[in-house]
Amino acid sequence: MNHPLRKVVIPAAGLGTRFLPATKSVPKEMLPIVDTPTIQLIVEEALSAGATEVVVINGRGKGAIEDHFDRSYELEDTLSRKGKQELFQLVRRISDEVRVVSVRQKEPLGLGHAVLAARHAIGNDWFGVMLGDDLIDADGHEAGIAQLVNVARATGKAAVALLPVPEEQSHLYGVAAGPLLGGDAGKIGAGGHISVEKMVEKPPRGTAPSNLAVIGRYVLPPEIFEILAQTKPGAGGEIQLTDALAVLAARGQLVGVRFSGVRHDAGDRLGYLQANIAYALKRPELREGLLAYLREVVK
Ligand code: G1P
Repeated sequence: MNHPLRKVVIPAAGLGTRFLPATKSVPKEMLPIVDTPTIQLIVEEALSAGATEVVVINGRGKGAIEDHFDRSYELEDTLSRKGKQELFQLVRRISDEVRVVSVRQKEPLGLGHAVLAARHAIGNDWFGVMLGDDLIDADGHEAGIAQLVNVARATGKAAVALLPVPEEQSHLYGVAAGPLLGGDAGKIGAGGHISVEKMVEKPPRGTAPSNLAVIGRYVLPPEIFEILAQTKPGAGGEIQLTDALAVLAARGQLVGVRFSGVRHDAGDRLGYLQANIAYALKRPELREGLLAYLREVVK
């Protein structure tokens, strides 16, 4: 990769069944962390890595996402007439800074299939893939996807984000294994990366090739589309991005990056609640009140 990252793909065609009934009419990507839709946090991470164009892969009924990133004339007009400048800027900024394109995924055939739907919108560029369920709070470090871009540019290879997980959880993820590039032998610390030799989607319990789970951030070359177009259904009968990445790994073209920062699983109800608390505690205007409440309820 020898250019900055300009485009990212955000798959958002899932049904969000874990958040029913809320997701009957509201896309799960619009559920807020404190006051900000999860997809906006993802888009802000992409912006801070230099991206300017976001391709959202939509299913049915995801108009709310398009509206969110569009101008809202009535709202902006009302806010500005009432002198609510701060709120006006807040609402206006997100539609000004990024160009959002949506692409329909006509059938729910898997993450690999969703990414393939972005082929024409991406063209012949390197691009990022960011999964809305995974929130990365970089906690003072560079944004999660930016950390991957750095390694992709330094090595010229595709990059995936990795996080060590307990053995009993590895069947829930794509798992990557391979030798460490730099850093302490045998141990991968924050900022370290491996040359990926093996990639397995949702390995049955006890068969994971390592404890390194793939977290939803990827920096990929355009060749991935050709590979995805040939990828047969895998785990769960779906066309898996992981299986296409395994092809890149076999060609020696994939690195796995142990990113710095905290990851929240906002696709899970408990993880979503934890993310809300963690992000709220970072807000000066909410911190004290929330802490007092938490102390009260754990008594
Ligand atoms: C997807 C990917 C998986 C990855 C995970 C990260 O799985 O297929 O490889 O580890 O996201 O969140 P999902 O969680 O959509 O089942």
